Amino acid sequence: MGFFRVKKSILSGSVKISGAKNAALPILAASLLTDQEIIVSNVPDLLDIQTMLCIIRESGRNVEFENGVVKISSNVTNGTISYELVRKMRASFNVLGPLAAVLGQAKVALPGGCAIGVRPVDFHIEGLKKLGFDIEIEHGEVWAKFRKKEDEVVISLPFPSVGATEHLMTTATILNGTTIIENAAMEPEIEDLQKFLNKMGAKVNGAGTKTIVIEGVSSLRSVNHEVIPDRIEAGTYAIAIAASRGKGYIEKVISSHLDALWDVLKNTGTKVEIYEDKVFIDGTGKKKSTKINILPYPGFPTDLQPQIMVYLSVANGTSTISENVFKNRFLHVDELVRMGADIYLTNGTAIINGVKKLSGAKVEGTDLRASAALVIAGLIAEGITEVYNDFHILRGYESIVEKIRGLNGKIEHLE
Ligand code: UD1
Repeated sequence: MGFFRVKKSILSGSVKISGAKNAALPILAASLLTDQEIIVSNVPDLLDIQTMLCIIRESGRNVEFENGVVKISSNVTNGTISYELVRKMRASFNVLGPLAAVLGQAKVALPGGCAIGVRPVDFHIEGLKKLGFDIEIEHGEVWAKFRKKEDEVVISLPFPSVGATEHLMTTATILNGTTIIENAAMEPEIEDLQKFLNKMGAKVNGAGTKTIVIEGVSSLRSVNHEVIPDRIEAGTYAIAIAASRGKGYIEKVISSHLDALWDVLKNTGTKVEIYEDKVFIDGTGKKKSTKINILPYPGFPTDLQPQIMVYLSVANGTSTISENVFKNRFLHVDELVRMGADIYLTNGTAIINGVKKLSGAKVEGTDLRASAALVIAGLIAEGITEVYNDFHILRGYESIVEKIRGLNGKIEHLE
């Protein structure tokens, strides 16, 4: 098992942000809707992306991936995706609807993914049923068979799930009639997916708002699309610079995607200057405590919750973070406490009493963002920190060692 060895560093300089993993994944899943050539650029080279490309290959389509550009061609011929691929990543489940819409039926295993609490797919399944699929769940697999879709279907999501919004919106593009998704998630990645689908000839409107309307079309065409920058990667480096008491630029970012983060950083004593496609962070000032409510976009993102917790763990005073998206996403707390943080949990809220310093330790990453948080903790802790379970980080952070070193951070990836 590999690990990252991290030493106390003051980050400075600049870091260029990669394409968004969470935008690229649903876009690649949507490439199954056509047999025409699809070209997607600014795709980060990550384990999760490789998993999705393997799934697309398993479906029969031809895939090439070089220098951040994915080219996909030829027909979808197979609608059964193996458990080995789906268990690695929850976003794999999003191929079920497109495959079943194209082939008439498809079978995909129930997903795995990050250990951040129970993550059901009931909204996906109820939505697919409304779109006219018969669904059977047996032996850990979900089997979807297309029967008939009503001319107008309204799907009201019980919670604005990002994955369910993307899955249902994508599937509906090539089904007859109108589909309306209410209480849709509003994340920027959903807007990027809408852009991609519409360039292919789909008729989707409203992404970025609570209501998305899809008018079905009979087929989709070839497309060339550039993925948006990764706001979570950008936020992670911004927090890392600020937490390390450094100064630096986050380049190639759409700053408006991170307004909730900028507000928290500014309110707690970090300077944030916004330029056209870069943001300057100055974390040299004293840090103050705050209260954060984790909410769906445009609220503070759950994918930056573990990282901001590290930042607040050394701020002056008591902070609270209430997690309202994944109630149990607090597995990193025990590891931070082992590094000297003073944090306890009560009813979905973390109470963080700021301490003067953290101390380096051997710690275990439990999921992607928790692992990123532990790397940040290692950068601000006295001594050496080793973050085990390196594969989590490799799922979601492209060239993390090079990028942190580029910011004068001390990090090694060891086997
Ligand atoms: C996506 C992101 C993930 C991020 C999350 C929330 C991708 C590939 N992943 O995950 O990084 O942390 O959004 O911003 O884009 N839920 C149900 N039933 C369902 C679906 C979801 O109860 O059928 C619940 C979940 O358990 C969770 C909440 O809804 O409590 C939000 O989950 P969701 O938005 O679906 O997250 P993902 O799409 O899996």
